[in-house]
Amino acid sequence: MAAHLSLIFLSLSALLVCCSTGAIAGRSVEEQLQQLNENYMEMKELLAAKNRRLEALEALEVEVMEQKSLVAALQQSGTQVAAANRQVTSAVPRSCADLKCKGETISGLYSIMGAKSVEMVYCDFSKATYEAGFQKWLGYVDVKSVPTYFYVQKNNTYTTLSGPIPFELEVVNIGGAMNSASGIFTAPRPGTYFFAFTGEIRFTGPIPSVVAAVVGLQLNGIKVGSSHATDSNTSTSTYSQLALQSILNLKAGDQVSVTIDFLNNAIVYDNPYQHFNHFTGMLLEENLAGLI
Ligand SMILES: *[C@@H]1O[C@H](CO)[C@@H](O)[C@H](O)[C@H]1NC(C)=O
Ligand SMILES: *[C@@H]1O[C@H](CO)[C@@H](O)[C@H](O)[C@H]1NC(C)=O
Repeated sequence: MAAHLSLIFLSLSALLVCCSTGAIAGRSVEEQLQQLNENYMEMKELLAAKNRRLEALEALEVEVMEQKSLVAALQQSGTQVAAANRQVTSAVPRSCADLKCKGETISGLYSIMGAKSVEMVYCDFSKATYEAGFQKWLGYVDVKSVPTYFYVQKNNTYTTLSGPIPFELEVVNIGGAMNSASGIFTAPRPGTYFFAFTGEIRFTGPIPSVVAAVVGLQLNGIKVGSSHATDSNTSTSTYSQLALQSILNLKAGDQVSVTIDFLNNAIVYDNPYQHFNHFTGMLLEENLAGLI
């Protein structure tokens, strides 16, 4: 019996020893409760901190959403403002100030509309509109709504006194304003044009005689310039040059041609190999007023 009891005692001791390795082994219930309470408080504090962080995150999220909608609203109103600006300033820009109103902000070279032509200016948008150097005028921009220039030649001798001289060879006719078959140039646009005619006159005798030739530059059938060659007692192989140069201000539709106005014992001489007679013309400067 004693041996039996001691066995139970040993078993209990072993159990106690075993239990003493646990956290609350050997503490009173009060102590254990205290510990639990402390743990609970600690957990509560941790949870509260986590909760605060969560709330802060949520607040941030709300803020981000607000910023996003603000950006979207700004973008929309920016587009509306730009559209409104375009509407207000659809007028052709005539200065750097106009360009600034249109929303240009980058300094640089800009084309603006002048009285009759496009002009180039340097706009310095880092300066105020009223400051010196805000706009610097550079020059004219060579804008031609219709590029116009031609060079035609004659192939054969010509002696007809009435009407424009036709030209058989069309070397260049950009813009197609020159009708070489009829010899009539029709101005496609108002502007300043240059024309030049060089002719070859052959005096045909008989000897002795006075020889003469006159060619005229016609604007809408009215002579605006002439060239005259004359001689006397010449052989039949005497030649002379005629030349006409002019700069004319033309309206759209104005017609320019060269005519033979007088021939006395003379011909406008040419052949298919040499082309002595030349007529050229070009638009120097177009009057763009009223185009836009
Ligand atoms: C042309 O020749 C004739 C006869 O030879 C002569 O009478 C006349 O004076 C000459 N005319 C001129 C302008 O040289
Ligand atoms: C120029 O004249 C030559 C000889 O008469 C002819 O063969 C040629 O076709 C002519 N060219 C033009 C463009 O009229």
